[in-house]
Amino acid sequence: MYKNEQDTTMIDAPVVVETRHLTRIYGDGTDVRALDDVSLTIHAGEFLAIVGPSGSGKSTLLNLIGALDRPTSGEVLIGGVPLSEVRDIDQFRGRTIGFVFQTHNLIPTLTAAENVEIPMYETGASRGERRARARELLELVGLAARTDHLPNQLSGGERQRVAIARALANHPTIVLADEPTGNLDSKTTADIMALLRQLNRDHGTTLIVVTHNHEVALAARRIITLRDGRIQSDQTVHSTIESELLDFKSSPLGQTILRGETLPDELADVAPKLRELLARL
Ligand SMILES: Nc1ncnc2c1ncn2[C@@H]1O[C@H](COP(=O)(O)OP(=O)(O)OP(=O)(O)O)[C@@H](O)[C@H]1O
Ligand SMILES: [Mg+2]
Repeated sequence: MYKNEQDTTMIDAPVVVETRHLTRIYGDGTDVRALDDVSLTIHAGEFLAIVGPSGSGKSTLLNLIGALDRPTSGEVLIGGVPLSEVRDIDQFRGRTIGFVFQTHNLIPTLTAAENVEIPMYETGASRGERRARARELLELVGLAARTDHLPNQLSGGERQRVAIARALANHPTIVLADEPTGNLDSKTTADIMALLRQLNRDHGTTLIVVTHNHEVALAARRIITLRDGRIQSDQTVHSTIESELLDFKSSPLGQTILRGETLPDELADVAPKLRELLARL
């Protein structure tokens, strides 16, 4: 559950990711408690950013959620299924989760379309199906004209868009991204974030993005801050306009309107509409 202002639309959605007392201690004598008793719940369709200083456990948390690593104690549940009980974890991961990393990890000898097709081999899709889906996805990320380019014939932002298309290949319920804009300039970063926001909004993909970048985090609807392997804060983000409206709601005029008190003539006409709007916030 959210600790702060509740987003009721999301709370009604099913839980897709749950961590219970998740702890990861790296052994080999160093005994680093990279993640320390982290419990959180993520609902379908959320867009969540994980922030925090270097070494605070962000990648560790993401890797545990994505079943790329195993916890020392505690549990991750995806769609209610504990990962510890999944028999074929590679197959489960391939069908449920899409990954986008800071370095896009494209195979240099394969074209953009062929790179996007890779995860589909896991599902037994036919060659024709793979091709069609890869084209559709490259179109979705704005690269319809680049399907036959090799990675070194693409810009950094284009490569990252191919990586996003690849992450979506198997219609994942969840997309995990670790510093997806880490190597990109600010304009390209904004484009990539707009694309991720669009996927979240139009396709309901649950998005979990690890980032150092404040601007990137603000694209999300919820920000979890980690410190020393623990959750320091868990906040729902409001858009600028929402924040301004909330400020207005708590102002003396906003409160007067909400109470339905008599207003000066200039405001009398719009007051009912304003009251309706503020009451909904
Ligand atoms: N394989 C490992 N063996 C030992 N310690 C590790 C290992 N991987 C990570 N750590 C330690 O665990 C802690 C958390 O690491 P993690 O990679 O999760 O941090 P992060 O928040 O992603 O940092 P960054 O922002 O720099 O990527 C760090 O102190 C790190 O040194
Ligand atoms: Mg990291």
